[in-house]
Amino acid sequence: MPSSKDRLVVAIDGPAGVGKSTVAQMVAAELGYACIDTGAMYRAITFKALEKKVSAEDDAAVASLAREAHVEQEYNPTSQVKLRTFLDGREVTREIRSRRVSSYVSRVSAIPALRVEMVKLQRRFLGGGGIVIEGRDMGTVVAPDADVKVFLAASVTERTRRRHGDLVEAGYNIPLETLRNEITRRDHADSTRTESPLAMARDAVLIDTTTMSAQQVAAEIIKLCRKKGRGRKPASRRL
Ligand code: DC
Repeated sequence: MPSSKDRLVVAIDGPAGVGKSTVAQMVAAELGYACIDTGAMYRAITFKALEKKVSAEDDAAVASLAREAHVEQEYNPTSQVKLRTFLDGREVTREIRSRRVSSYVSRVSAIPALRVEMVKLQRRFLGGGGIVIEGRDMGTVVAPDADVKVFLAASVTERTRRRHGDLVEAGYNIPLETLRNEITRRDHADSTRTESPLAMARDAVLIDTTTMSAQQVAAEIIKLCRKKGRGRKPASRRL
């Protein structure tokens, strides 16, 4: 069921480094909506698997770990770190961006039984609308009835540059060439896996953001939302 028209469900998909999270947060702030970064959820489970020394090759063990895990996100547009991720009550916002997590997350997120758990959880966030949710399979699997569906694209060079900027800001200085290789490898893994591969929904609006600023991309999405109607919700919600 699509949501009531003053509390839209806005689904944003796209490849690594395209700026989904930045743009999703800008749209959520403007509309007064909640915001969910589903990549951070897969990263939190990956972090837990690494911490508990559960092999990323052991599908059943990873899925069972996900069933036990308590992953929450809090979006507050007025705080310095706007989108925070919690695992079993402990903040892991920074830890889930580590190189180690980044290099395991594609493998972990390809586990079908894990995806079933994550999709279930993500769908629970959609009830009542008033949410911007971003990832790889929002428009295709998690929220096929979303009111606004957007697929963001950008060249590999531009995505490498953006991801580099984000990481420098988070305190990680990684050579551009290393990041470029990692993004190319993740593009391949995310698009070729059998379960919910990265794909554009047939009814999504494609925005090539290569030469656009995040503000311009957010403005485009907000325009799409305004065509459907919008409402306001409290500024901070933990889901
Ligand atoms: O957006 P990100 O780079 O933080 O995502 C981390 C990984 O999680 C990425 O390699 C693909 C995976 N992912 C996914 O499979 N499905 C989603 N809905 C979101 C992310």
